[in-house]
Amino acid sequence: MAFNFCFKISLVLFFIINLYVSTVTSRDLKKLSMLERHEKWMARHGRVYKDEIEKEQRFKTFKENVEFIESFNQNGTQRYKLAINKYTDLTNEEFMALFTGLDTSLSQQKSTATTSSFKYESLTEVPLSMDWRNGSVTGIKDQGQCECCWAFSAVAAIEGAYQIANNKLISLSEQQLLDCSTENKGCKGGLMTLAYDFLLQNGGGITTETNYPYQQSQSICSTQKISSTAAVTISGYELVPPSESSLLKAVANQPISVCIAASHEFLMYGSGIYDGSCDPELNHAVTLIGYGAGVNGTKYWLVKNSWGTSWGEEGYMRIARDVGVDGGHCGIASAASFPTV
Ligand SMILES: *[C@@H]1O[C@H](CO)[C@@H](O)[C@H](O)[C@H]1NC(C)=O
Ligand SMILES: *[C@@H]1O[C@H](CO)[C@@H](O)[C@H](O)[C@H]1NC(C)=O
Ligand SMILES: *[C@@H]1O[C@H](CO)[C@@H](O)[C@H](O)[C@H]1NC(C)=O
Repeated sequence: MAFNFCFKISLVLFFIINLYVSTVTSRDLKKLSMLERHEKWMARHGRVYKDEIEKEQRFKTFKENVEFIESFNQNGTQRYKLAINKYTDLTNEEFMALFTGLDTSLSQQKSTATTSSFKYESLTEVPLSMDWRNGSVTGIKDQGQCECCWAFSAVAAIEGAYQIANNKLISLSEQQLLDCSTENKGCKGGLMTLAYDFLLQNGGGITTETNYPYQQSQSICSTQKISSTAAVTISGYELVPPSESSLLKAVANQPISVCIAASHEFLMYGSGIYDGSCDPELNHAVTLIGYGAGVNGTKYWLVKNSWGTSWGEEGYMRIARDVGVDGGHCGIASAASFPTV
């Protein structure tokens, strides 16, 4: 009985909906399909909103971003494409608040770097291209909603330096830096050089990702986890003079921590060689892991980000190189550093 009743109701509903659908305009249909895309996108990225009001607000932002991305890509005159990713429901303001995390104001603090030396200065020849993913770079990690790009950038550079020196790739702990390097501001921002300073002041040791896994939030420093196993020890760090030519010499030898001025468009990057908009300020940290030239000889830097694999080229970005601008495109060459092991 119950089944029959339900069946009849749904039959009636079916006709009502059919009637409705046949009268909607194409504009409504477009909206309907955007709603559908939003639903599918939510499911794909496990996105849940607290109520209908938030959902409606997020839908609006999603729609605006999707329209921007599609019209940009249809233009076809650019060297890069934008793409829908798990951040497509975020406004520019939210992006700035949530996903960057470089605090350059911290650089006023005293640094123990031997700032006068740059050991690759005298290098005269570098290979035409370099890609440290041939064995010196761990998989793409995801900082989540914690502004500690500084920890990911420092760790990736240490992982690379250690692999090159010891022929052993070990995934290391961002959480140790996040919890223990308290000169930095945890999930509210930091600097790679301060992270290196912290390690050096405490014997230089950093433990493994497995031993001290990433939590997406700051906790009390676990001295137990640190003392049990220092997997890798750094002996110092150096600053790269702020030019693209120095940066090239540096990354020809090892992965490098770099600061970058990321914009909302940067967050939408999908593929290709990015020469799009930048923020006026350095606000994000990534790891430079190579360089090369694309079709037509367009030169690029190869960057490892910490925004998961749904962003960019499976989590990586190619960004314009030798652009004739001081500090490089989006300031990529303006505040680079690297650890020594
Ligand atoms: C396409 O790109 C060109 C060059 O950047 C720009 O002038 C033009 O406004 C763009 N058109 C659209 C529809 O975005
Ligand atoms: C990766 O490439 C560089 C440059 O060619 C080389 O020096 C290095 O040994 C390579 N690494 C591995 C693990 O093969
Ligand atoms: C490469 O150059 C050709 C010919 O000048 C041009 O048609 C094409 O769009 C260029 N490709 C890129 C990716 O810049």
